[in-house]
Amino acid sequence: MRLNIAVLPGDGIGPEIIEQGMKAVKAVCATFGHELHWEEAPAGAAAIEATGEPYPEATHRLCMESDAVFFGAIGHPKYDNDPSAKVRPEQGLLAMRKKLGLFANIRPVTTFPSLIHQSPLRADLVDGADFMCIRELTGGMYFGRPQGRSEDGNTAYDTCVYTRGEIERIIHLAYGYAQKRRRKLTIVDKANVLATSRLWRQIAREIEKEYPDVETEYMFVDNAAMRLIQWPKSFDVIVTENMFGDILTDEASVITGSLGMLPSASIGIHTSVFEPIHGSYPQAAGKNIANPLATILSAALMFEYAFNLPEEAGAIRQAVAASMDAGIVTEDIAQGSKAYATSETGDFIQAAITHLGLRIKN
Ligand code: IPM
Ligand code: MN
Repeated sequence: MRLNIAVLPGDGIGPEIIEQGMKAVKAVCATFGHELHWEEAPAGAAAIEATGEPYPEATHRLCMESDAVFFGAIGHPKYDNDPSAKVRPEQGLLAMRKKLGLFANIRPVTTFPSLIHQSPLRADLVDGADFMCIRELTGGMYFGRPQGRSEDGNTAYDTCVYTRGEIERIIHLAYGYAQKRRRKLTIVDKANVLATSRLWRQIAREIEKEYPDVETEYMFVDNAAMRLIQWPKSFDVIVTENMFGDILTDEASVITGSLGMLPSASIGIHTSVFEPIHGSYPQAAGKNIANPLATILSAALMFEYAFNLPEEAGAIRQAVAASMDAGIVTEDIAQGSKAYATSETGDFIQAAITHLGLRIKN
């Protein structure tokens, strides 16, 4: 198969983790006999420096022409405490989501046996937790207008907007995933307070009838935040609006023991984007210490979702498991034993994929 991938390393540790991810992609293509074409383009602070725009038109064009976008991270401390900054790296991410129509952000949360005791939660609560958060990504307060300040600058406002069409498509998508998993869907909202949430719930109740094979549960977001740490194993698929999803997925990510482990896929109307859920971690940039596993696991999601190649995805996941079993991991998860560099971890996984791939084929 011919794979066309747009590679957007972005800021901070983005370039070094994407490099490891690409080692995995190349190893898969070489062993499974796929023809790989990839091209790099700037995004985020790196793109602002180069072009003045955080998501330049040329980058967008490349994404539109590719079969998948492999994305590192965006964000630079230079912009964080500067309210006068006219363009911010994060605007690039939001522009990319909107222009590619990426209305669903899928964040699978699985536990890794060797990391369970790193979780802030008790091992018996975490062991076997396996759920998927589906976050609506192009609506809600992130994009609702008006947004801004009053003339005197002393009043600020954001607007939360959802349309029937936006809600219907994400709820159907979530039911689809629930049907392929353990057939339970938790719909998270704040329908006791917000008008948008009441519309979500009304529409979800209509759609629920079309999926009698799936158990539907409605939960307020504050309660969901509590239940996630109290009983994570009670969830299978969770679907929610943009801002609630942003907050709940950060919470969910630490259940597994490290934020450095979780991949994500953003899918929608045009090309899908695959990226780790962690940020650009500027303090570690260039030090060769960042954990590349979330990025490498995002490459696995890319093979599965964008190219429908589950065996290739499986080889990547097995190679990641092998690196953890062998203790070839970065300092955040080394747990007192020798820590390996970002690049060493990537090299080990590249070799393991080649090895595994050959075994699967013969
Ligand atoms: C995420 C991030 C982004 C978001 C930021 C960087 C704009 O936190 O992908 O979760 O809030 O969506
Ligand atoms: Mn976030």
